[in-house]
Amino acid sequence: MNNDLINTIRSKVDIIDIIGDRIPLVSKGKNYFGICPFHEDSNPSLCVSRDKQIYTCFSCHATGNVYTFLMEYEHINFQEALVYLGELVGVDVSSFSVPKKNNKYSKFYEAYSFSVKYFQNNLSSSLGRKAREYLISRGIDESVIKEFEIGLSLDQKDDLTQLLLQKQFDIVNLNLIGLSFDDRDIYCNRVMFPLYDLTGKVVAFSGRIYENSDQSKYINTKETPLFKKGELLYHYHIAREECRSQNSVIVMEGFMDVIRASTIGVRNTVALMGTALTSEQISLIKRLSPHIIFCLDGDDAGVHATIRNGELFFQHGIEIKVIRLPKEDDPDTFIFQQGKDKFLSLIDSCIPFQEFKLNQLKEQVNFQDDVEKSEYIHTVLGEIVKLTDEIRIEILLKKLAKEFDIGYNTLEKRFQELKHERESEKLIPQQHVHLVQQKVVRKNKYEKAVEQIFYFMLCNDWVISQVEKEKLVFPNEKSRILCSEIIYYYQKFGNITVADFYTYVQDKEDILDLVNQVLAGNYRDVTTKEELFEYFHVIRDYGRCQEIKRLTNLMKKEIDPLEQAKISEKIRKLRIGE
Ligand code: UTP
Ligand code: MN
Repeated sequence: MNNDLINTIRSKVDIIDIIGDRIPLVSKGKNYFGICPFHEDSNPSLCVSRDKQIYTCFSCHATGNVYTFLMEYEHINFQEALVYLGELVGVDVSSFSVPKKNNKYSKFYEAYSFSVKYFQNNLSSSLGRKAREYLISRGIDESVIKEFEIGLSLDQKDDLTQLLLQKQFDIVNLNLIGLSFDDRDIYCNRVMFPLYDLTGKVVAFSGRIYENSDQSKYINTKETPLFKKGELLYHYHIAREECRSQNSVIVMEGFMDVIRASTIGVRNTVALMGTALTSEQISLIKRLSPHIIFCLDGDDAGVHATIRNGELFFQHGIEIKVIRLPKEDDPDTFIFQQGKDKFLSLIDSCIPFQEFKLNQLKEQVNFQDDVEKSEYIHTVLGEIVKLTDEIRIEILLKKLAKEFDIGYNTLEKRFQELKHERESEKLIPQQHVHLVQQKVVRKNKYEKAVEQIFYFMLCNDWVISQVEKEKLVFPNEKSRILCSEIIYYYQKFGNITVADFYTYVQDKEDILDLVNQVLAGNYRDVTTKEELFEYFHVIRDYGRCQEIKRLTNLMKKEIDPLEQAKISEKIRKLRIGE
Protein backbone atom coordinates (compact mmCIF):
# COMPACT_ATOMS: atom_id res chain seq x y z
CA MET A 1 0.00 0.00 0.00
CA ASN A 2 1.17 3.46 -0.82
CA ASN A 3 0.86 4.95 2.63
CA ASP A 4 2.20 8.36 1.62
CA LEU A 5 -0.55 8.94 -0.89
CA ILE A 6 -3.24 7.63 1.44
CA ASN A 7 -2.04 9.89 4.25
CA THR A 8 -1.60 12.90 1.98
CA ILE A 9 -5.18 12.67 0.79
CA ARG A 10 -6.38 12.15 4.32
CA SER A 11 -4.53 15.19 5.58
CA LYS A 12 -6.10 17.36 2.86
CA VAL A 13 -9.68 16.68 3.95
CA ASP A 14 -11.31 17.52 7.23
CA ILE A 15 -13.27 14.68 8.77
CA ILE A 16 -15.70 17.26 10.17
CA ASP A 17 -16.67 18.29 6.62
CA ILE A 18 -17.00 14.75 5.33
CA ILE A 19 -19.13 13.51 8.22
CA GLY A 20 -20.91 16.85 8.58
CA ASP A 21 -22.08 16.63 4.95
CA ARG A 22 -23.85 13.41 5.81
CA ILE A 23 -25.15 13.86 9.33
CA PRO A 24 -25.73 17.05 11.33
CA LEU A 25 -22.86 17.78 13.72
CA VAL A 26 -22.89 20.20 16.62
CA SER A 27 -19.66 21.55 18.10
CA LYS A 28 -19.12 21.20 21.80
CA GLY A 29 -15.73 22.14 23.21
CA LYS A 30 -12.96 20.69 21.08
CA ASN A 31 -15.17 18.04 19.51
CA TYR A 32 -18.24 17.66 17.34
CA PHE A 33 -21.23 15.50 18.16
CA GLY A 34 -23.94 13.89 16.07
CA ILE A 35 -26.36 10.99 16.01
CA CYS A 36 -24.39 7.86 15.21
CA PRO A 37 -25.52 6.35 11.88
CA PHE A 38 -24.18 2.92 12.79
CA HIS A 39 -26.75 1.98 15.40
CA GLU A 40 -30.30 2.93 16.33
CA ASP A 41 -30.18 6.02 18.45
CA SER A 42 -31.65 9.43 19.00
CA ASN A 43 -28.89 10.73 21.30
CA PRO A 44 -25.79 12.37 19.87
CA SER A 45 -23.28 9.70 20.88
CA LEU A 46 -20.98 10.04 17.89
CA CYS A 47 -17.98 12.17 18.75
CA VAL A 48 -15.79 13.53 15.95
CA SER A 49 -12.43 15.08 16.73
CA ARG A 50 -10.98 17.76 14.48
CA ASP A 51 -7.59 17.51 16.20
CA LYS A 52 -7.28 13.79 15.82
CA GLN A 53 -9.35 13.39 12.65
CA ILE A 54 -11.13 10.36 14.05
CA TYR A 55 -14.62 9.52 15.22
CA THR A 56 -15.82 7.28 18.02
CA CYS A 57 -19.29 6.37 19.18
CA PHE A 58 -19.76 6.17 22.95
CA SER A 59 -22.69 3.87 22.51
CA CYS A 60 -21.88 1.30 19.80
CA HIS A 61 -18.12 1.97 19.82
CA ALA A 62 -17.91 2.46 16.06
CA THR A 63 -14.49 3.98 15.53
CA GLY A 64 -12.24 5.08 12.72
CA ASN A 65 -10.94 7.78 10.43
CA VAL A 66 -12.37 9.45 7.36
CA TYR A 67 -11.76 6.38 5.18
CA THR A 68 -13.53 3.95 7.47
CA PHE A 69 -16.40 6.36 7.93
CA LEU A 70 -17.00 6.54 4.18
CA MET A 71 -16.60 2.79 3.78
CA GLU A 72 -19.13 2.03 6.49
CA TYR A 73 -21.53 4.82 5.73
CA GLU A 74 -21.58 4.57 1.94
CA HIS A 75 -20.98 0.83 1.80
CA ILE A 76 -17.97 1.21 -0.41
CA ASN A 77 -14.55 -0.42 -0.26
CA PHE A 78 -11.27 1.26 0.63
CA GLN A 79 -10.29 1.83 -3.01
CA GLU A 80 -13.59 3.61 -3.67
CA ALA A 81 -13.24 5.78 -0.58
CA LEU A 82 -9.74 6.70 -1.68
CA VAL A 83 -10.84 7.60 -5.22
CA TYR A 84 -13.74 9.65 -3.86
CA LEU A 85 -11.56 11.67 -1.50
CA GLY A 86 -8.77 11.91 -4.08
CA GLU A 87 -11.14 13.53 -6.53
CA LEU A 88 -12.46 15.82 -3.82
CA VAL A 89 -9.01 17.24 -3.06
CA GLY A 90 -7.69 17.03 -6.60
CA VAL A 91 -5.19 14.20 -6.22
CA ASP A 92 -5.16 11.73 -9.10
CA VAL A 93 -5.46 8.19 -7.81
CA SER A 94 -6.59 6.50 -11.03
CA SER A 95 -3.28 4.70 -11.57
CA PHE A 96 -3.10 3.63 -7.98
CA SER A 97 -4.51 0.31 -6.97
CA VAL A 98 -4.82 -1.14 -3.50
CA PRO A 99 -4.74 -4.90 -3.13
CA LYS A 100 -8.28 -6.17 -2.91
CA LYS A 101 -9.34 -6.62 0.68
CA ASN A 102 -12.15 -9.00 -0.03
CA ASN A 103 -10.04 -11.79 -1.49
CA LYS A 104 -12.06 -14.37 0.35
CA TYR A 105 -15.11 -13.66 -1.76
CA SER A 106 -13.62 -12.47 -5.03
CA LYS A 107 -13.88 -15.94 -6.56
CA PHE A 108 -17.59 -16.01 -5.63
CA TYR A 109 -18.24 -12.65 -7.26
CA GLU A 110 -16.43 -13.91 -10.36
CA ALA A 111 -18.72 -16.94 -10.54
CA TYR A 112 -21.69 -14.62 -10.40
CA SER A 113 -20.47 -12.25 -13.08
CA PHE A 114 -19.73 -15.20 -15.30
CA SER A 115 -23.27 -16.53 -14.74
CA VAL A 116 -24.80 -13.14 -15.51
CA LYS A 117 -23.01 -13.09 -18.87
CA TYR A 118 -23.98 -16.65 -19.61
CA PHE A 119 -27.68 -15.98 -18.91
CA GLN A 120 -27.54 -12.81 -21.01
CA ASN A 121 -26.11 -14.77 -23.93
CA ASN A 122 -28.87 -17.34 -23.65
CA LEU A 123 -31.52 -14.67 -23.79
CA SER A 124 -30.14 -13.10 -26.94
CA SER A 125 -29.55 -16.48 -28.62
CA SER A 126 -32.16 -18.32 -30.69
CA LEU A 127 -33.08 -20.31 -27.57
CA GLY A 128 -34.26 -17.09 -25.99
CA ARG A 129 -36.95 -16.22 -28.51
CA LYS A 130 -39.93 -17.06 -26.31
CA ALA A 131 -38.45 -15.38 -23.24
CA ARG A 132 -37.76 -12.26 -25.31
CA GLU A 133 -41.35 -12.28 -26.50
CA TYR A 134 -42.52 -12.53 -22.92
CA LEU A 135 -40.39 -9.57 -21.88
CA ILE A 136 -41.54 -7.50 -24.85
CA SER A 137 -45.16 -8.29 -24.02
CA ARG A 138 -44.46 -6.77 -20.60
CA GLY A 139 -42.92 -3.72 -22.22
CA ILE A 140 -39.38 -4.60 -21.21
CA ASP A 141 -37.29 -3.54 -24.17
CA GLU A 142 -33.69 -4.11 -25.19
CA SER A 143 -32.30 -1.15 -23.22
CA VAL A 144 -34.01 -2.23 -19.99
CA ILE A 145 -32.80 -5.81 -20.48
CA LYS A 146 -29.30 -4.44 -20.79
CA GLU A 147 -29.53 -2.00 -17.89
CA PHE A 148 -30.80 -4.62 -15.44
CA GLU A 149 -28.70 -7.41 -16.98
CA ILE A 150 -31.72 -9.65 -17.47
CA GLY A 151 -30.97 -13.12 -18.82
CA LEU A 152 -32.34 -16.60 -19.30
CA SER A 153 -31.59 -19.98 -17.76
CA LEU A 154 -32.00 -22.86 -20.21
CA ASP A 155 -34.32 -25.82 -20.03
CA GLN A 156 -31.42 -28.09 -19.11
CA LYS A 157 -30.23 -29.59 -15.86
CA ASP A 158 -26.60 -28.70 -15.42
CA ASP A 159 -25.31 -26.55 -18.26
CA LEU A 160 -24.25 -23.64 -16.03
CA THR A 161 -22.73 -25.89 -13.37
CA GLN A 162 -20.68 -27.73 -16.01
CA LEU A 163 -19.42 -24.49 -17.52
CA LEU A 164 -18.41 -23.13 -14.13
CA LEU A 165 -16.60 -26.37 -13.31
CA GLN A 166 -14.68 -26.08 -16.58
CA LYS A 167 -13.73 -22.57 -15.47
CA GLN A 168 -12.08 -24.13 -12.40
CA PHE A 169 -14.78 -23.12 -9.96
CA ASP A 170 -15.13 -25.57 -7.14
CA ILE A 171 -18.39 -27.51 -6.78
CA VAL A 172 -18.48 -27.13 -3.00
CA ASN A 173 -18.36 -23.38 -3.42
CA LEU A 174 -20.94 -23.36 -6.20
CA ASN A 175 -23.31 -25.16 -3.86
CA LEU A 176 -22.39 -22.81 -1.05
CA ILE A 177 -23.14 -19.61 -2.97
CA GLY A 178 -26.37 -20.89 -4.43
CA LEU A 179 -25.41 -21.32 -8.08
CA SER A 180 -25.73 -25.12 -7.93
CA PHE A 181 -27.52 -27.66 -5.82
CA ASP A 182 -26.53 -31.32 -5.60
CA ASP A 183 -24.11 -30.58 -8.43
CA ARG A 184 -26.99 -29.50 -10.68
CA ASP A 185 -28.31 -26.10 -11.79
CA ILE A 186 -30.85 -24.38 -9.62
CA TYR A 187 -32.62 -22.40 -12.31
CA CYS A 188 -34.20 -24.06 -15.33
CA ASN A 189 -36.08 -22.22 -18.01
CA ARG A 190 -36.59 -18.96 -16.16
CA VAL A 191 -36.07 -15.31 -16.95
CA MET A 192 -33.14 -14.38 -14.76
CA PHE A 193 -33.00 -11.12 -12.79
CA PRO A 194 -29.64 -10.48 -11.09
CA LEU A 195 -29.90 -9.24 -7.50
CA TYR A 196 -27.24 -6.81 -6.36
CA ASP A 197 -25.57 -6.12 -3.05
CA LEU A 198 -25.30 -2.60 -1.64
CA THR A 199 -22.27 -1.81 -3.77
CA GLY A 200 -23.81 -3.11 -7.00
CA LYS A 201 -22.13 -6.51 -7.25
CA VAL A 202 -24.36 -9.40 -8.34
CA VAL A 203 -24.78 -11.79 -5.40
CA ALA A 204 -27.95 -13.69 -6.25
CA PHE A 205 -30.65 -14.26 -8.82
CA SER A 206 -34.38 -14.25 -8.96
CA GLY A 207 -35.70 -16.45 -11.75
CA ARG A 208 -39.23 -15.94 -13.09
CA ILE A 209 -41.35 -18.39 -15.05
CA TYR A 210 -42.35 -17.03 -18.44
CA GLU A 211 -44.51 -19.78 -19.88
CA ASN A 212 -47.55 -21.41 -18.36
CA SER A 213 -46.24 -23.39 -15.47
CA ASP A 214 -47.44 -24.73 -12.16
CA GLN A 215 -44.11 -23.94 -10.52
CA SER A 216 -43.76 -20.97 -8.19
CA LYS A 217 -43.57 -17.64 -9.96
CA TYR A 218 -40.16 -16.66 -8.68
CA ILE A 219 -37.27 -18.73 -7.37
CA ASN A 220 -34.68 -16.79 -5.43
CA THR A 221 -31.16 -17.70 -4.42
CA LYS A 222 -31.04 -19.04 -0.86
CA GLU A 223 -29.28 -17.10 1.90
CA THR A 224 -25.54 -17.38 1.35
CA PRO A 225 -22.43 -15.68 2.72
CA LEU A 226 -22.86 -13.12 -0.09
CA PHE A 227 -26.63 -12.83 -0.07
CA LYS A 228 -28.34 -11.93 3.18
CA LYS A 229 -31.78 -10.80 2.24
CA GLY A 230 -32.46 -8.82 5.40
CA GLU A 231 -29.33 -6.73 4.89
CA LEU A 232 -30.04 -5.77 1.31
CA LEU A 233 -32.38 -3.62 -0.71
CA TYR A 234 -32.74 -4.09 -4.45
CA HIS A 235 -31.39 -1.10 -6.43
CA TYR A 236 -29.69 0.51 -3.40
CA HIS A 237 -26.45 1.23 -5.30
CA ILE A 238 -28.30 3.21 -7.97
CA ALA A 239 -30.77 4.82 -5.58
CA ARG A 240 -27.93 6.21 -3.46
CA GLU A 241 -27.13 8.99 -5.92
CA GLU A 242 -30.67 9.41 -7.22
CA CYS A 243 -32.17 9.88 -3.76
CA ARG A 244 -29.76 12.70 -3.07
CA SER A 245 -30.78 14.61 -6.16
CA GLN A 246 -34.48 13.81 -5.79
CA ASN A 247 -34.43 14.41 -2.03
CA SER A 248 -36.62 11.37 -1.40
CA VAL A 249 -36.65 7.60 -1.58
CA ILE A 250 -39.55 5.49 -2.83
CA VAL A 251 -39.85 2.01 -1.34
CA MET A 252 -41.58 -0.66 -3.44
CA GLU A 253 -42.39 -4.31 -3.02
CA GLY A 254 -40.85 -6.12 -5.98
CA PHE A 255 -37.88 -5.56 -8.24
CA MET A 256 -40.22 -5.51 -11.25
CA ASP A 257 -41.74 -2.36 -9.78
CA VAL A 258 -38.33 -0.75 -9.53
CA ILE A 259 -37.42 -1.80 -13.06
CA ARG A 260 -40.69 -0.39 -14.38
CA ALA A 261 -40.26 2.92 -12.55
CA SER A 262 -36.81 3.19 -14.03
CA THR A 263 -38.30 3.08 -17.56
CA ILE A 264 -40.05 6.39 -16.83
CA GLY A 265 -36.96 7.93 -15.27
CA VAL A 266 -37.94 7.39 -11.63
CA ARG A 267 -34.80 5.88 -10.13
CA ASN A 268 -34.85 6.95 -6.47
CA THR A 269 -36.40 3.58 -5.68
CA VAL A 270 -35.58 0.43 -3.74
CA ALA A 271 -37.44 -2.87 -3.43
CA LEU A 272 -37.94 -5.03 -0.34
CA MET A 273 -38.36 -8.21 -2.39
CA GLY A 274 -41.13 -9.82 -0.43
CA THR A 275 -39.49 -9.80 3.01
CA ALA A 276 -40.51 -8.34 6.34
CA LEU A 277 -38.61 -5.13 6.94
CA THR A 278 -35.55 -5.63 9.17
CA SER A 279 -33.97 -2.96 11.34
CA GLU A 280 -30.92 -3.04 9.07
CA GLN A 281 -33.11 -2.22 6.10
CA ILE A 282 -34.74 0.57 8.07
CA SER A 283 -31.40 2.21 8.70
CA LEU A 284 -30.40 1.73 5.06
CA ILE A 285 -33.58 3.45 3.91
CA LYS A 286 -33.11 6.24 6.45
CA ARG A 287 -29.64 6.75 5.08
CA LEU A 288 -30.90 7.20 1.52
CA SER A 289 -33.10 10.14 2.44
CA PRO A 290 -35.05 11.58 5.35
CA HIS A 291 -38.07 11.74 3.04
CA ILE A 292 -39.34 8.21 2.74
CA ILE A 293 -42.28 7.35 0.51
CA PHE A 294 -43.83 3.89 0.54
CA CYS A 295 -45.50 2.71 -2.63
CA LEU A 296 -46.44 -0.91 -2.06
CA ASP A 297 -49.04 -2.98 -3.91
CA GLY A 298 -52.62 -1.71 -3.85
CA ASP A 299 -54.10 -4.94 -2.51
CA ASP A 300 -54.96 -5.65 1.14
CA ALA A 301 -51.60 -7.29 1.73
CA GLY A 302 -49.89 -4.13 0.49
CA VAL A 303 -52.01 -1.93 2.76
CA HIS A 304 -51.26 -4.10 5.79
CA ALA A 305 -47.56 -4.14 5.00
CA THR A 306 -47.64 -0.35 4.65
CA ILE A 307 -49.21 0.03 8.09
CA ARG A 308 -46.79 -2.44 9.68
CA ASN A 309 -43.77 -0.75 8.12
CA GLY A 310 -45.06 2.74 8.81
CA GLU A 311 -45.38 1.85 12.49
CA LEU A 312 -41.82 0.52 12.50
CA PHE A 313 -40.50 3.76 11.05
CA PHE A 314 -42.63 5.73 13.49
CA GLN A 315 -40.93 3.89 16.34
CA HIS A 316 -37.63 4.97 14.81
CA GLY A 317 -38.80 8.56 14.92
CA ILE A 318 -39.77 8.95 11.26
CA GLU A 319 -43.18 9.46 9.73
CA ILE A 320 -43.14 8.00 6.23
CA LYS A 321 -45.33 9.20 3.38
CA VAL A 322 -47.62 6.85 1.53
CA ILE A 323 -48.74 6.49 -2.07
CA ARG A 324 -51.95 4.51 -2.32
CA LEU A 325 -52.47 2.58 -5.57
CA PRO A 326 -55.77 1.21 -6.88
CA LYS A 327 -56.57 -2.20 -5.36
CA GLU A 328 -55.69 -4.18 -8.46
CA ASP A 329 -52.36 -2.44 -9.14
CA ASP A 330 -48.75 -2.59 -8.15
CA PRO A 331 -46.38 0.19 -9.27
CA ASP A 332 -45.39 -1.94 -12.24
CA THR A 333 -48.89 -2.42 -13.64
CA PHE A 334 -49.96 1.11 -12.78
CA ILE A 335 -47.08 2.71 -14.64
CA PHE A 336 -47.36 0.26 -17.54
CA GLN A 337 -51.05 1.01 -18.05
CA GLN A 338 -51.42 4.62 -16.91
CA GLY A 339 -48.07 6.04 -17.93
CA LYS A 340 -45.51 8.40 -16.52
CA ASP A 341 -47.56 11.54 -15.82
CA LYS A 342 -50.24 9.75 -13.83
CA PHE A 343 -47.59 8.11 -11.68
CA LEU A 344 -45.71 11.35 -11.13
CA SER A 345 -48.89 13.03 -9.95
CA LEU A 346 -49.48 10.09 -7.59
CA ILE A 347 -46.05 10.72 -6.10
CA ASP A 348 -46.95 14.39 -5.67
CA SER A 349 -50.14 13.50 -3.85
CA CYS A 350 -48.57 11.17 -1.30
CA ILE A 351 -49.94 11.59 2.23
CA PRO A 352 -48.35 11.37 5.70
CA PHE A 353 -48.51 7.96 7.31
CA GLN A 354 -50.79 8.98 10.18
CA GLU A 355 -53.39 10.24 7.75
CA PHE A 356 -53.13 7.10 5.67
CA LYS A 357 -53.70 5.06 8.79
CA LEU A 358 -56.71 7.14 9.83
CA ASN A 359 -58.21 6.78 6.35
CA GLN A 360 -57.78 3.03 6.63
CA LEU A 361 -59.43 2.94 10.05
CA LYS A 362 -62.34 4.95 8.72
CA GLU A 363 -63.06 2.44 5.98
CA GLN A 364 -63.95 -0.20 8.55
CA VAL A 365 -66.32 1.85 10.69
CA ASN A 366 -70.12 1.84 10.53
CA PHE A 367 -70.93 5.45 11.32
CA GLN A 368 -74.60 4.74 11.83
CA ASP A 369 -73.63 2.99 15.05
CA ASP A 370 -72.90 5.54 17.80
CA VAL A 371 -70.71 3.18 19.80
CA GLU A 372 -68.52 2.38 16.78
CA LYS A 373 -68.42 6.04 15.94
CA SER A 374 -67.19 7.13 19.37
CA GLU A 375 -64.70 4.28 19.48
CA TYR A 376 -63.37 5.51 16.17
CA ILE A 377 -63.00 9.06 17.48
CA HIS A 378 -61.11 7.79 20.51
CA THR A 379 -58.81 5.79 18.27
CA VAL A 380 -58.16 8.83 16.11
CA LEU A 381 -57.28 10.87 19.19
CA GLY A 382 -54.93 8.08 20.20
CA GLU A 383 -53.14 8.48 16.88
CA ILE A 384 -53.06 12.27 16.90
CA VAL A 385 -51.46 12.23 20.33
CA LYS A 386 -48.41 10.49 18.84
CA LEU A 387 -47.64 13.54 16.70
CA THR A 388 -45.29 16.30 17.79
CA ASP A 389 -46.20 19.15 15.41
CA GLU A 390 -48.61 21.36 17.41
CA ILE A 391 -50.07 23.04 14.36
CA ARG A 392 -50.76 19.79 12.64
CA ILE A 393 -52.38 18.52 15.81
CA GLU A 394 -54.70 21.49 15.92
CA ILE A 395 -55.62 21.14 12.24
CA LEU A 396 -56.47 17.48 12.75
CA LEU A 397 -58.49 18.11 15.91
CA LYS A 398 -60.49 20.85 14.17
CA LYS A 399 -61.10 18.60 11.20
CA LEU A 400 -62.32 15.86 13.49
CA ALA A 401 -64.58 18.23 15.45
CA LYS A 402 -66.14 19.52 12.26
CA GLU A 403 -66.52 16.13 10.62
CA PHE A 404 -68.40 14.61 13.53
CA ASP A 405 -69.97 17.76 14.87
CA ILE A 406 -68.38 17.53 18.29
CA GLY A 407 -67.33 20.55 20.33
CA TYR A 408 -63.65 21.39 19.80
CA ASN A 409 -63.22 21.86 23.56
CA THR A 410 -64.53 18.39 24.31
CA LEU A 411 -62.03 16.88 21.91
CA GLU A 412 -59.19 19.08 23.11
CA LYS A 413 -59.86 18.13 26.74
CA ARG A 414 -59.77 14.41 26.00
CA PHE A 415 -56.68 14.99 23.88
CA GLN A 416 -54.82 16.66 26.78
CA GLU A 417 -55.74 13.79 29.11
CA LEU A 418 -54.38 11.28 26.62
CA LYS A 419 -51.23 13.32 26.27
CA HIS A 420 -50.56 13.23 30.01
CA GLU A 421 -51.22 9.49 30.17
CA ARG A 422 -48.81 8.96 27.33
CA GLU A 423 -46.07 11.08 28.86
CA SER A 424 -46.17 9.29 32.19
CA GLU A 425 -46.07 5.93 30.41
CA LYS A 426 -43.12 7.01 28.32
CA LEU A 427 -40.88 7.73 31.30
CA ILE A 428 -40.54 4.11 32.31
CA PRO A 429 -39.34 2.51 29.07
CA GLN A 430 -36.93 5.39 28.46
CA GLN A 431 -35.14 4.79 31.74
CA HIS A 432 -34.89 1.18 30.75
CA VAL A 433 -33.23 2.02 27.44
CA HIS A 434 -30.79 4.22 29.31
CA LEU A 435 -29.78 1.32 31.54
CA VAL A 436 -29.19 -0.98 28.60
CA GLN A 437 -26.98 1.56 26.87
CA GLN A 438 -24.93 2.15 29.99
CA LYS A 439 -24.03 -1.52 30.18
CA VAL A 440 -20.36 -1.42 29.30
CA VAL A 441 -17.64 -3.94 29.92
CA ARG A 442 -15.71 -2.94 33.05
CA LYS A 443 -11.99 -2.79 32.53
CA ASN A 444 -9.56 -3.42 35.34
CA LYS A 445 -6.74 -1.07 36.33
CA TYR A 446 -4.22 -2.95 34.24
CA GLU A 447 -6.29 -2.96 31.07
CA LYS A 448 -6.95 0.74 31.46
CA ALA A 449 -3.24 1.41 31.91
CA VAL A 450 -2.40 -0.54 28.76
CA GLU A 451 -4.94 1.36 26.70
CA GLN A 452 -3.92 4.71 28.15
CA ILE A 453 -0.28 4.06 27.29
CA PHE A 454 -1.20 3.19 23.72
CA TYR A 455 -3.20 6.37 23.40
CA PHE A 456 -0.26 8.40 24.72
CA MET A 457 1.98 6.64 22.18
CA LEU A 458 -0.34 7.48 19.31
CA CYS A 459 -0.50 11.15 20.32
CA ASN A 460 3.10 11.80 21.43
CA ASP A 461 6.28 10.68 19.64
CA TRP A 462 8.32 10.97 22.79
CA VAL A 463 6.21 8.35 24.55
CA ILE A 464 7.08 5.84 21.84
CA SER A 465 10.77 6.44 22.51
CA GLN A 466 10.21 6.03 26.25
CA VAL A 467 8.44 2.71 25.79
CA GLU A 468 11.36 1.51 23.68
CA LYS A 469 14.04 2.86 26.01
CA GLU A 470 12.40 1.39 29.10
CA LYS A 471 11.93 -1.93 27.31
CA LEU A 472 8.36 -2.06 28.53
CA VAL A 473 6.91 -5.52 27.96
CA PHE A 474 3.16 -5.86 27.80
CA PRO A 475 2.06 -9.11 29.41
CA ASN A 476 -0.29 -10.19 26.64
CA GLU A 477 0.25 -11.13 23.04
CA LYS A 478 -2.13 -8.68 21.43
CA SER A 479 -0.69 -5.69 23.28
CA ARG A 480 2.83 -6.77 22.40
CA ILE A 481 1.92 -6.93 18.71
CA LEU A 482 0.25 -3.53 18.81
CA CYS A 483 3.24 -2.05 20.62
CA SER A 484 5.68 -3.31 18.02
CA GLU A 485 3.39 -2.14 15.19
CA ILE A 486 3.34 1.39 16.62
CA ILE A 487 7.13 1.38 16.97
CA TYR A 488 7.56 -0.04 13.49
CA TYR A 489 5.18 2.53 11.98
CA TYR A 490 6.94 5.42 13.71
CA GLN A 491 10.38 4.26 12.60
CA LYS A 492 9.24 3.77 9.04
CA PHE A 493 7.30 7.00 8.49
CA GLY A 494 9.05 9.27 10.95
CA ASN A 495 5.81 10.50 12.48
CA ILE A 496 2.52 9.13 13.65
CA THR A 497 -1.05 10.38 13.87
CA VAL A 498 -4.03 8.47 15.18
CA ALA A 499 -5.93 8.83 11.91
CA ASP A 500 -3.09 7.61 9.67
CA PHE A 501 -2.17 4.77 11.96
CA TYR A 502 -5.80 3.72 11.82
CA THR A 503 -5.62 3.17 8.06
CA TYR A 504 -2.45 1.18 8.58
CA VAL A 505 -4.05 -1.29 11.00
CA GLN A 506 -7.36 -1.49 9.22
CA ASP A 507 -6.74 -4.93 7.74
CA LYS A 508 -4.75 -6.25 10.70
CA GLU A 509 -7.59 -8.14 12.26
CA ASP A 510 -5.56 -9.41 15.20
CA ILE A 511 -5.07 -5.95 16.72
CA LEU A 512 -7.80 -3.81 15.19
CA ASP A 513 -10.27 -4.42 18.01
CA LEU A 514 -7.67 -3.36 20.58
CA VAL A 515 -7.02 -0.16 18.59
CA ASN A 516 -10.77 0.44 18.47
CA GLN A 517 -10.98 0.05 22.24
CA VAL A 518 -8.12 2.49 22.70
CA LEU A 519 -9.77 5.09 20.48
CA ALA A 520 -13.24 4.62 21.93
CA GLY A 521 -12.01 4.66 25.52
CA ASN A 522 -12.01 8.43 25.97
CA TYR A 523 -8.38 8.51 27.13
CA ARG A 524 -6.27 11.60 27.71
CA ASP A 525 -3.70 12.55 25.10
CA VAL A 526 -1.08 14.55 27.01
CA THR A 527 1.01 13.33 29.89
CA THR A 528 4.17 13.94 31.85
CA LYS A 529 7.12 11.64 32.22
CA GLU A 530 6.31 11.03 35.90
CA GLU A 531 2.77 10.06 35.14
CA LEU A 532 3.84 7.85 32.27
CA PHE A 533 6.21 5.98 34.58
CA GLU A 534 3.38 5.36 36.99
CA TYR A 535 1.51 3.64 34.19
CA PHE A 536 4.63 1.64 33.34
CA HIS A 537 4.73 0.60 36.96
CA VAL A 538 1.17 -0.72 36.80
CA ILE A 539 2.06 -2.82 33.76
CA ARG A 540 5.23 -4.21 35.31
CA ASP A 541 3.46 -4.95 38.56
CA TYR A 542 0.78 -6.80 36.70
CA GLY A 543 3.38 -8.71 34.71
CA ARG A 544 5.09 -9.72 37.93
CA CYS A 545 1.84 -10.91 39.52
CA GLN A 546 1.07 -12.98 36.45
CA GLU A 547 4.52 -14.56 36.57
CA ILE A 548 4.17 -15.34 40.29
CA LYS A 549 0.83 -16.99 39.59
CA ARG A 550 2.34 -19.06 36.82
CA LEU A 551 5.25 -20.19 38.95
CA THR A 552 3.03 -21.03 41.91
CA ASN A 553 0.97 -23.31 39.70
CA LEU A 554 4.13 -24.86 38.31
CA MET A 555 5.41 -25.49 41.81
CA LYS A 556 2.22 -27.29 42.81
CA LYS A 557 2.65 -29.71 39.93
CA GLU A 558 6.38 -30.25 40.53
CA ILE A 559 7.28 -33.42 42.48
CA ASP A 560 11.03 -33.05 42.63
CA PRO A 561 11.76 -31.12 45.89
CA LEU A 562 14.95 -29.65 44.45
CA GLU A 563 13.10 -28.16 41.49
CA GLN A 564 10.43 -26.95 43.88
CA ALA A 565 13.00 -25.08 45.88
CA LYS A 566 14.34 -23.43 42.75
CA ILE A 567 10.92 -22.20 41.74
CA SER A 568 10.20 -21.03 45.24
CA GLU A 569 13.36 -18.94 45.18
CA LYS A 570 12.31 -17.37 41.86
CA ILE A 571 8.96 -16.47 43.38
CA ARG A 572 10.64 -14.93 46.42
CA LYS A 573 12.85 -12.76 44.20
CA LEU A 574 9.87 -11.62 42.17
CA ARG A 575 8.00 -10.76 45.39
CA ILE A 576 10.74 -8.49 46.66
CA GLY A 577 11.04 -6.98 43.22
CA GLU A 578 14.50 -8.16 42.21
P1 UTP B 1 -45.14 -9.93 -6.45
O1 UTP B 1 -45.99 -11.14 -6.62
O2 UTP B 1 -45.80 -8.63 -6.12
O3 UTP B 1 -44.23 -9.81 -7.71
O4 UTP B 1 -44.03 -10.22 -5.36
P2 UTP B 1 -44.33 -8.77 -8.88
O5 UTP B 1 -43.30 -7.73 -8.63
O6 UTP B 1 -45.71 -8.30 -9.08
O7 UTP B 1 -43.83 -9.65 -10.10
P3 UTP B 1 -44.54 -9.87 -11.49
O8 UTP B 1 -45.06 -8.53 -11.87
O9 UTP B 1 -45.62 -10.86 -11.28
O10 UTP B 1 -43.45 -10.37 -12.34
C1 UTP B 1 -43.14 -9.20 -4.90
C2 UTP B 1 -41.81 -9.80 -4.61
O11 UTP B 1 -41.96 -10.95 -3.80
C3 UTP B 1 -41.03 -11.95 -4.15
C4 UTP B 1 -40.20 -11.40 -5.29
O12 UTP B 1 -38.98 -10.89 -4.79
C5 UTP B 1 -41.05 -10.28 -5.84
O13 UTP B 1 -40.24 -9.27 -6.41
N1 UTP B 1 -41.70 -13.21 -4.60
C6 UTP B 1 -42.93 -13.20 -5.13
C7 UTP B 1 -41.02 -14.40 -4.48
O14 UTP B 1 -39.90 -14.43 -3.99
N2 UTP B 1 -41.61 -15.56 -4.91
C8 UTP B 1 -42.84 -15.58 -5.47
O15 UTP B 1 -43.33 -16.66 -5.86
C9 UTP B 1 -43.53 -14.36 -5.57
MN1 MN C 1 -46.39 -7.25 -10.70
